[in-house]
Amino acid sequence: MLNPSGDETLRTGTDREPARRDPGACGPSVCTDASRANALHAARVADRYNCRMYKIRTFNQIASRGLDRFSRDDYELGSEISDPDAILLRSHPLAVEETGSRLLCVGRAGAGVNNVPVQALSERGIVVFNTPGANANAVKELVMAAMLVTGRGVVPGIEFVRTASLSAADATELHTTVEAHKRQFKGHELMGRTLGVLGLGAIGARVAEAALQMGMHVLGYDPAISVDAAWRLPSDVERMENQQALFARSDIVTLHVPLLESTRGLINVDALGYFREGATLLNFAREEIVDTEALDDALRQGRIRRYVSDFPNARLLQHEGVFATPHLGASTVEAEENCAVMAADQIIDFLEHGNIRNSVNYPDIVLERTTGYRLALSNRNVPRILGQVLSILADRDINVIDMLNKSRDEVAYNLIDIESEPTAELCAEIEAIDGVVNVRPVHSA
Ligand SMILES: NC(=O)c1ccc[n+]([C@@H]2O[C@H](COP(=O)([O-])OP(=O)(O)OC[C@H]3O[C@@H](n4cnc5c(N)ncnc54)[C@H](O)[C@@H]3O)[C@@H](O)[C@H]2O)c1
Repeated sequence: MLNPSGDETLRTGTDREPARRDPGACGPSVCTDASRANALHAARVADRYNCRMYKIRTFNQIASRGLDRFSRDDYELGSEISDPDAILLRSHPLAVEETGSRLLCVGRAGAGVNNVPVQALSERGIVVFNTPGANANAVKELVMAAMLVTGRGVVPGIEFVRTASLSAADATELHTTVEAHKRQFKGHELMGRTLGVLGLGAIGARVAEAALQMGMHVLGYDPAISVDAAWRLPSDVERMENQQALFARSDIVTLHVPLLESTRGLINVDALGYFREGATLLNFAREEIVDTEALDDALRQGRIRRYVSDFPNARLLQHEGVFATPHLGASTVEAEENCAVMAADQIIDFLEHGNIRNSVNYPDIVLERTTGYRLALSNRNVPRILGQVLSILADRDINVIDMLNKSRDEVAYNLIDIESEPTAELCAEIEAIDGVVNVRPVHSA
């Protein structure tokens, strides 16, 4: 059982004060009919309060290892579910109309959330999770494969052997042809070469570590490295003061920065001017980080000898030194499972305990359970709201045992452990405070 028995009936719009605003799907700008908004609001609070089974709507094919995290005693799962408590998806472009009125959170099994209307959901107090790092190993392995394969003439070598075997009369002739032509596919070893890693987050740090294990000298640059990422980074990675220094000293440069306005076209004419003559550039981050025209020129001039990318570009593929994979970075069974498991665990922890990990619109917040009764409260990040909440609790003689409050940009989120079971009326009264977006009782089993 996830939630309280909740037999208590909720006062509805007729006998409770008119809602001062409706933070839900039916916001004040949408609902002009105050009584309808009031009834909807009351119904939603009651619904949340009385919830016994959580409903999870899935979009896309979610790995079964992720779906198995949801106990079927407590969760109802499916792609047909309407009005869910949580949505679990991969790349489905989520429309606001698909979110229903009781939605509490969205879990994106993957890193990017450009298929989720985050802003609109944030205004309704809906938490959006992603799964940073869950596919990092998959991308790392492909980057290492790209370096190994393209540095050794493996791709043209395989093509040569296939053609030669079709035209050779017998095994002896094939053997002779192979031995006579193999020198044209001679490559370089990675050991002893210098790799520049731009962006030292989940993927960049793993690539740096693997490259060190291959005997490469590794340079790294990341002006905004997180504390966690810095801890994870091997101390043998040589820290660069700026990207120009990294470009100038690297035989191979690999990009692991997100696509932001500040990184769009980061590899442009100016940046390419710092690269070593004949360098290799790897792009398994995002296509738009590289300026196509500038790279086209650099390939023609021979400044860049090889470009290996997960994002095929017809213009660049005309160069012999360009290799592309069809966006395979995260395409492994393991990565899809890791993402699904991580997204599912985050949804469960949020629904059952109110904890938030890896949200793109809410602060990370985790509070160990101290009592069986917890309120999870979301509000606008302005003064005096928490004070009003605490006085409502005090007026009802409800003792607060522990609480945690965190904010991020315009939202604040609170976990409040209380000594006695909150009623639906209490939740409704708190939710009626101007600035409170939503409140939810989160009772342990
Ligand atoms: N090919 C694929 O299928 C695939 C799969 C997963 C991720 N990706 C891409 O890889 C990117 C990196 O993923 P991640 O999980 O390592 O992300 P991450 O957020 O863990 O790390 C990104 C790092 O880049 C750094 N950074 C930002 N701007 C920078 C700049 N101008 N110079 C240097 N560093 C900078 C950040 O500080 C951060 O540490 C993602 O944003 C995504 O676009 C591609």
